[in-house]
Amino acid sequence: MVTGASRGIGRSIALVLAERGYNLLITARSENELSDLASLIHTNYNVKTHWLVCDLSQPESVKNLVLWVNQLDIPIAILVNNAGYGLWGKFEELSLAGQLEMLRLNIDAVVSLSHHLLPLLHQQQQAYILNVASTAAYQAVPTLAVYAASKAAVLSFSRALRYELRKSSVSVSCLSPGPTDTGFAARAGMAKLAELAAKFNMSPDEVAKIAIKGMFNSKAEIVPGKLNKLSAFMVRLVSKNFVEGITGRLYDK
Ligand SMILES: NC(=O)c1ccc[n+]([C@@H]2O[C@H](COP(=O)([O-])OP(=O)(O)OC[C@H]3O[C@@H](n4cnc5c(N)ncnc54)[C@H](OP(=O)(O)O)[C@@H]3O)[C@@H](O)[C@H]2O)c1
Repeated sequence: MVTGASRGIGRSIALVLAERGYNLLITARSENELSDLASLIHTNYNVKTHWLVCDLSQPESVKNLVLWVNQLDIPIAILVNNAGYGLWGKFEELSLAGQLEMLRLNIDAVVSLSHHLLPLLHQQQQAYILNVASTAAYQAVPTLAVYAASKAAVLSFSRALRYELRKSSVSVSCLSPGPTDTGFAARAGMAKLAELAAKFNMSPDEVAKIAIKGMFNSKAEIVPGKLNKLSAFMVRLVSKNFVEGITGRLYDK
């Protein structure tokens, strides 16, 4: 199952899995995009696709999604918790309600779906959870404070769950993309930074290929792209104040 499959990285991940012969469950809020993706997969690959429209920031929708999966009664070997978004701006200037809604999608949905679907994943000889964080997970990011904190939570959760499941058939990986050419910057309200990001952007297809390869190789952390890898590594070597000074200036609003 891939959440947030209507576009961007999730869509590309769904296509890579279809190419590898996996039947798919795909979800997002955009019905037309999901339906188009299901048709595209049906035309090009010999796999089955089921899709459900749902807003995973709403706890009721998460419950409905789990109910739907259980009613379908089909084996689940892969859970990709990809749906997520950011909000750019100073913490006090962004609405509290908006930031809490983002947390419900970026953290609560990841935790809930992992908890609800683990019993199904355990039924497989080999199963995978791929949680999508961000390079923002590796350090605090002023003006993306809550988003970066949510992705740090996803990274920490993924590592701990991976350890707990190390003797089971379920492998847990965490994907941390850097700037990627998707709808992310527009939804985050980062249009002003788009020009800068474009210099470093990877394509979602590139990210998805690296992500799925890393997931099948049971990598704990997957950071696509040399520059992103380097930055995730370098932040460990220098002081947090120094890094926050750089990210604060880079993302200043
Ligand atoms: N692009 C980047 O630069 C970048 C960098 C680091 C990490 N990431 C992470 O990568 C993941 C995918 O983002 P993306 O770059 O592919 O952005 P995107 O193009 O905006 O795609 C986001 C996906 O999440 C879905 N989604 C958003 N809100 C949702 C909700 N409330 N309920 C259910 N689904 C929802 C969207 O579908 P609907 O709108 O149809 O619901 C869409 O399919 C996110 O977790 C993001 O934080 C992205």
